[in-house]
Amino acid sequence: MSSSKVEQLRQLKGSIKLGGGEKRIESQRKKGKMIARERINLLFDEGSFVEVDAFVKHRCKNFGMDKMKSPGEGVVTGYGQVDGRLVYAYAQDFTVLGGSLGEMHAKKICKIQDLALKMGAPIVGINDSGGARIQEGVDALSGYANIFFRNTISSGVIPQITAIMGPCAGGAVYSPAITDFIFMVDKTSQMFITGPQVIKTVTGEEVTSEDLGGAMTHNSVSGVAHFVSKSEAECIEDIKRLLSFLPSNNMEIAPVYEVHDDLNMLIPELDEIIPENPNKPYDMKKIITAIADDSDFFETQASYAQNIITGFIRLNGQSVGVIANQPKVLAGCLDINASDKAGRFVRTCDCYNIPVLTIVDVPGFLPGTAQEYGGIIRHGAKMLYAYSEATVPKITLIVRKAYGGAYIAMCCKELGADVSLAWPSAQIAVMGPDGAANIIFKKEIADSSDPQATRVELVDNYKIEFATPYKAAERGYVDDVIEPSATRKRLIDAINMTASKRETRPSKKHGNLPV
Ligand code: HXC
Repeated sequence: MSSSKVEQLRQLKGSIKLGGGEKRIESQRKKGKMIARERINLLFDEGSFVEVDAFVKHRCKNFGMDKMKSPGEGVVTGYGQVDGRLVYAYAQDFTVLGGSLGEMHAKKICKIQDLALKMGAPIVGINDSGGARIQEGVDALSGYANIFFRNTISSGVIPQITAIMGPCAGGAVYSPAITDFIFMVDKTSQMFITGPQVIKTVTGEEVTSEDLGGAMTHNSVSGVAHFVSKSEAECIEDIKRLLSFLPSNNMEIAPVYEVHDDLNMLIPELDEIIPENPNKPYDMKKIITAIADDSDFFETQASYAQNIITGFIRLNGQSVGVIANQPKVLAGCLDINASDKAGRFVRTCDCYNIPVLTIVDVPGFLPGTAQEYGGIIRHGAKMLYAYSEATVPKITLIVRKAYGGAYIAMCCKELGADVSLAWPSAQIAVMGPDGAANIIFKKEIADSSDPQATRVELVDNYKIEFATPYKAAERGYVDDVIEPSATRKRLIDAINMTASKRETRPSKKHGNLPV
């Protein structure tokens, strides 16, 4: 082959790599954003990224598009190694027609989605786009629909992770929404169905794009996103960290890491962590980090529904999903948002073979008309459904309150907990002592010459008799009451014991999760 042909190839590839050109790259940088190829290079192990379809061009002739070039068709696609494991990725290039999505741009993404599914490897999508390429009309809409369809078919088979690193508007938001996890970058990423202009025209409401769909809005208010990062570089590091807790596909288990901590380590501070006063809050995250390998806890949706905590730890090097009530927020009550957050997380762990550890300190479901009118019945049902449906190892640890329906919703034995442990401070009952006394001792209190003293005495008796873990242990609803300091060791024993778990369900098309 003549060297001129090789030179021509190099020049072609070089010009494609420049994307929309220096001016637009500069404008991208001024917004505090990286360009698509820089993001890809940061994600993949050095030199491992293999680009696919760099030569693809659009076929649109409308509105003068036949004269418009679109190097790389506005999206970089390919595969490579992340921490030595195969991962597929696409990164929209805002410097090319605003990263807008037309027929061929979508085809590039779909090809990568198909490869990822066939090879059983995670896919990371980096979104930075003005949405459907307006000039391409229905071809652009068709492109989105093809992507959504593949997102759905891949759901629960390969991990799908989305990073929003710029605008993501209109129906474009629905690909990220179907994926497993959404990352956003503070101040430089926005997601919304209709932007501020349209909202003002239709409803008269005025809102900035940041307030409407910025990273904090979706991380703390809507619950659409799972992570917020301070910068794009931090976001990509967080994506790699998340990948380390996930298997490549639903037929594998997550990578097992070397353990530095002693597996038999006792943690004496856990014996003191529950306050004497049952109404006093404490920080549940201290329990989670104390028991985790290397005290490493990777929290998901940290700013949303903070009355429940979800995230990943490792026990004996193995990835474990943790769901725990947070007594510091709303006393750890379950509400609509907490139910959605926990239900979704349990299902995520279940589809990717990650054992579930549930740590319980829950006084009940949050009372009130706002919750009832908002459908707490329907939302709370998601937790019952998700736990019952899950066939991964399920380990439940009750550290303090476990009352009523919320006790059941936090993976009690009957929902399939394979191992159920309680601390001596656990109180497993239909309701708290005060509420219970008001109902069952109503007559005695009313008839007493000193109702106040009688009430105190009866509540105390109830606490001694029923607000303990021992009634539940007598019936086998908890397997053992353990010393808090031995929790890590006992949980590792449980993880080891359940490692070979196989549980099947009746064959069906799919269940009908209350959505
Ligand atoms: C074609 C587009 C485009 C689009 C941006 N561009 N969006 N081209 N189709 N959807 C082009 C611009 O013309 C411009 O080209 C370049 O990208 C950069 O855009 P700017 O506007 O200069 O950038 P900026 O000021 O940063 O504003 C970014 C933006 C804005 C907020 C995203 O471009 C915007 O509002 N775009 C339209 C958003 C939108 O309504 N999209 C359709 C949503 S509906 P030049 O040549 O000047 O560099 C949708 C339906 C999908 O997506 C349905 C799926 C089910």
